[in-house]
Amino acid sequence: MIGIIGGSGVYDIPWLENAVELIAENEYGEAKLKKGHVGSLEVVFLARHGKTHSIQPASINYRSNIKALYDSGVRNIFSTYAVGGINPKYRPGDFAIIGQFIDFTWGRNGTFHDKPGSVVHTDMSEPYSKKLSEVLKNSLQQLGQNFYENQVYICTQGPRFETPAEIKAYSIIGADIVGMTGCPEVALAREFGINFASLAVITNLAAGVSTALISHQEVLDIFNARMEIISEVLRLSCLGVSTI
Ligand code: HPA
Repeated sequence: MIGIIGGSGVYDIPWLENAVELIAENEYGEAKLKKGHVGSLEVVFLARHGKTHSIQPASINYRSNIKALYDSGVRNIFSTYAVGGINPKYRPGDFAIIGQFIDFTWGRNGTFHDKPGSVVHTDMSEPYSKKLSEVLKNSLQQLGQNFYENQVYICTQGPRFETPAEIKAYSIIGADIVGMTGCPEVALAREFGINFASLAVITNLAAGVSTALISHQEVLDIFNARMEIISEVLRLSCLGVSTI
């Protein structure tokens, strides 16, 4: 079973065959899933912000989402993120495959190992699966898309966008792109040993990188313009998992 977590702009997967919607319950809460097929492969989709983008980044129940996917048998996840480009090489609409994260969030439930007596330190040397990232890369290449690999993603608390001073600081500490939802999602998946790879879409240049103001509508507009390609990258990537 392959999992897809859709971020801003990805609220459905049009190519899922025989899809059924269900609500999975676990000790952390519930998660809305859509299960279906592509060919003989089973795929389950989860819209991180809800179908109508009603859940803000810090309020997402990352633990119930990841647990629900794990309980469904998911061992490989592709996730998508709308991000701001910190590195000035980016143009809106470009793709990035994430290689590392820097977590600037606070107050989110970031571990499954929080029971008294259970102290587990999960290795994060390779948070994103090299094999799955290679699958994403092959799909992007097959579709002739411009992308950057092994990018450093910084996760901010949101829901506000950043100040130019914050972005300058993030740039100095090595971040290429900025978003609000990558953490603790990937770390929770790694706690379960799930292979995780992330496709980011640069929807805007981060604050101060360009003089333009940033609006959520602009983020969604750029994302929507790339939606057909994103959907196809995800479809090809699911099919690609069976070959690794
Ligand atoms: N900052 C944080 N999150 C984002 C941005 C941004 O500029 N663009 C899209 N998601």
